[in-house]
Amino acid sequence: MRVIETIPELRSELDAIRATGRSVGVVPTMGALHAGHASLVDQAVAGCDAVVVTVFVNPLQFAAGEDLGSYPRSLDSDVRLAGDHGAALVFAPDEAEMYPRGREAVLTQVRVEGLSNRWEGASRPTHFAGVCTVVAKLLHIVGPCRAFFGEKDFQQLTIIRAMVADLSFPVEVVGCPTIREPDGLAMSSRNVHLSASHRAQATVLSQALVAVAGAYATGERDVSELVRIAMERIAAAPDAEPDYVAIVDPTTLDPVTMAQDDSRVLVAVRFGSTRLLDNAPIRSEDAA
Ligand code: PAF
Repeated sequence: MRVIETIPELRSELDAIRATGRSVGVVPTMGALHAGHASLVDQAVAGCDAVVVTVFVNPLQFAAGEDLGSYPRSLDSDVRLAGDHGAALVFAPDEAEMYPRGREAVLTQVRVEGLSNRWEGASRPTHFAGVCTVVAKLLHIVGPCRAFFGEKDFQQLTIIRAMVADLSFPVEVVGCPTIREPDGLAMSSRNVHLSASHRAQATVLSQALVAVAGAYATGERDVSELVRIAMERIAAAPDAEPDYVAIVDPTTLDPVTMAQDDSRVLVAVRFGSTRLLDNAPIRSEDAA
């Protein structure tokens, strides 16, 4: 396991790997790696000859007042986890390496229109341009590869797929299933910010998804009723502040009025200053 901090070193390492006919996989992360990331690394290692995990807390995707300063950082244990799961390299650039003229002077940003403006984008209007800019840059540095992203951030995954297709990146985007705590909470680096009480209440997100799946199983297709059922479940947590529950087309993220197989349920709820996301597909095989 090698930790690389500069772009030229990473490029030459990966070019050398590809020159011997081996395939490259990349797992882009902001560090604070947990079992959810470990499963992305496992899937990358299973499908590629050499895997690089990138660790960079990208300032461009945080708006003023968001949690950039308090975002958890743990490079040593991230390197251990990546190595234990079979990654060959960790790319851990500092901000000057990624944005040499300073984050305020990044003139070129990648925006995926439409998909980026709604749901998370409605409350975080600059977020996805920051994500797309850094992911475009990382994929450009890494070169031809398979890139592994979690379905946990379903809107992000959908937007990255659109960016990669629209700009013809030589990259195959692989979406990987959400990994959950035993009580159903989707794993996220931000879960560490939850107080004990909020952590206990946070199970309402996955419970809301299960409740929607259950109602779909018994034949309910009307989205307003399915959303009401989810909201009722979320309201069982006294401190939950729901931002949205939506049932959407999985490719366009447009809201649907009648749920159907493969519609996606998206949930965003705040507990204090911590915003939690979850989502799940609706499928009749789950309903049977
Ligand atoms: O999902 C994340 O951790 C980040 O948004 C990503 C994709 C690594 C870009 O900074």
